Amino acid sequence: MCGIIGALCDHNVQDELLGALRRMEYRGYDSAGICVLDGGSFQQAKAAGKLSNLQRELASHPLSGRIGIGHTRWATHGEPTIINAHPHISANVALVHNGIIENHHQLRVQLVAQGYCFVSQTDTEVLPHLLEEKIQQRELLDAWREMLSEIEGAYAIAAIIRSLPGSLWFARKGSPLLLGRGAHGVYVASDALALAGLADEVMYIDDHHWGRLTLEGVELYDLSGNPVELEWDPLPVTAHDAEKDGFPHYMLKEIHEQPAVLRRILRQYVKGDGEIVFEQASFLHEKPLPQRIVMIACGTSYHAALTARYWLERYLKIPVEVDIASEYRYRDPVIGQHTLLVALSQSGETADTLEVLRMFKRHTPGNDALALCNVPSSSLAREADGLIELFAGPEIGVASTKAYMAQLAVLALLTLFMARRAGAMPEERVAEHLAALERAATDMEALLADTAAVRQAAALFADVRGALYLGRGPCYPMALEGALKLKEISYLHAEGYAAGEMKHGPIALIDHLIPVVVIAPKQYHLEKVISNLHEVQARGARVILIVDLPEAGIATDAACVLRVPEGDYFSTPLLVCIPLQLLAYEVACMLGTDVDQPRNLAKSVTVE
Ligand code: M6R
Repeated sequence: MCGIIGALCDHNVQDELLGALRRMEYRGYDSAGICVLDGGSFQQAKAAGKLSNLQRELASHPLSGRIGIGHTRWATHGEPTIINAHPHISANVALVHNGIIENHHQLRVQLVAQGYCFVSQTDTEVLPHLLEEKIQQRELLDAWREMLSEIEGAYAIAAIIRSLPGSLWFARKGSPLLLGRGAHGVYVASDALALAGLADEVMYIDDHHWGRLTLEGVELYDLSGNPVELEWDPLPVTAHDAEKDGFPHYMLKEIHEQPAVLRRILRQYVKGDGEIVFEQASFLHEKPLPQRIVMIACGTSYHAALTARYWLERYLKIPVEVDIASEYRYRDPVIGQHTLLVALSQSGETADTLEVLRMFKRHTPGNDALALCNVPSSSLAREADGLIELFAGPEIGVASTKAYMAQLAVLALLTLFMARRAGAMPEERVAEHLAALERAATDMEALLADTAAVRQAAALFADVRGALYLGRGPCYPMALEGALKLKEISYLHAEGYAAGEMKHGPIALIDHLIPVVVIAPKQYHLEKVISNLHEVQARGARVILIVDLPEAGIATDAACVLRVPEGDYFSTPLLVCIPLQLLAYEVACMLGTDVDQPRNLAKSVTVE
């Protein structure tokens, strides 16, 4: 969602602010702005729409100053207009914000009564006015602390103050924020990638912490105003991470990275003798196995959890519950003891998933919570009792691809690890499954090298009304994921269904304008899926069939067949990822949408 950058440098900051905003474009936004402070006055530029609009504005009216803040806004309160774009300014304060100020209405009424004039419809605009009001009456540090104690909701804030051109101010509660320092300046940002090429070291700010950053150092406080210890870490990303490496889109680059990601995961977690070791989740090795597992996530991460439920229940014979984080947190779930929470998130900053983790830890402190996450410095990774890192590398395309495959891969390893510990799978079987996962990386390369059939399948999506994806068993959630991928980036309506459920309603949709993607690997109830295929074909559907068998013996009259190499119970879904992702990608390219930054979407959903 919104991207925040603040910079205080030994030179003009405009280009650095703009470059940082560019590296955060992937988070999703619909307007942007920059404000710098020079000679005691604020200068600002804002634009609705893409950053190129802001860049044009800056080209005709450049800003100059050594301290400034910038923002990409994903609209929540008020349309994505120039007026509503951040920074928001009061007489002495300019400020950018990510999150939602829940009591903004009361604060606005109070501030208007005190004579403050509001120009935007945003919740954020109360913040500079509230701070302005406080600094009229008290010392700056007290003013900040008092402002923070009066606001409710979630925030990451960066601000500059007119009378103090040498300080960047910041605060965090519920939305990610970090500080950076480099050879030529100090920074505050919502994303490490923003600081690539600028900072060498970063400091992750915890919830309820706030302070100020100068070229000389940092003052960091908790909500009571007590100083907090400072901890700098090396910047975890490089400028190269933000490049496309010759691919036309990040999404395609990330799809192609999957064989390397899978190899990295296997190298990381599977030792030479075949032992599976999760070093950052030692409780998995030390404590008794759980009697129940609850898996929580949103979007694509939720789909990965749904597939893993089939795996875990089959081998562990314990109940595995999977739920969408935004539902779970409000439905008074019965958690019970001896329950393992597995919270899955690419970003580790998804507000609902994080809140479930916190709720789980509050309600059943005796249970353990495991994060499956791609960003080890994220809030989820830091707050969980253990982490299984995804090692997918920065994922910049808004549509998750390599992180999804990585989640499936680590969940397969987690299942094998637990099944082995439970004595539920003989050693030879574990070794066979590990070998199949190794082979899958090479098979993925073969799939990525020949995409002609996928392009042919994509052509079937010209002038359609939507699409249906069908699968059974662990491939049913893959049908959900295939449909999500298609709708996210092509804006075509798509539904994923359990193939056996199709006759209970969705079959009414079927005609030649609704292509049906049937996922039918031999591992998962092939004959039954093929019967469902015949049922849709009999009603005029054009079928795109994903199989891992030679066509002999199964329907050959599909409009298009996408063949994947034969995998096993665990590796097959990893292979099926590739045609599903490529199909969505090719359809989106054919329809000319913005593949990497599809409309209305944010990469990391940091507000509920
Ligand atoms: O970072 P997370 O895995 O927690 O994100 C969850 C969803 O927001 C995310 O998977 C979303 O559905 C993606 N756009 C899917 O491509």
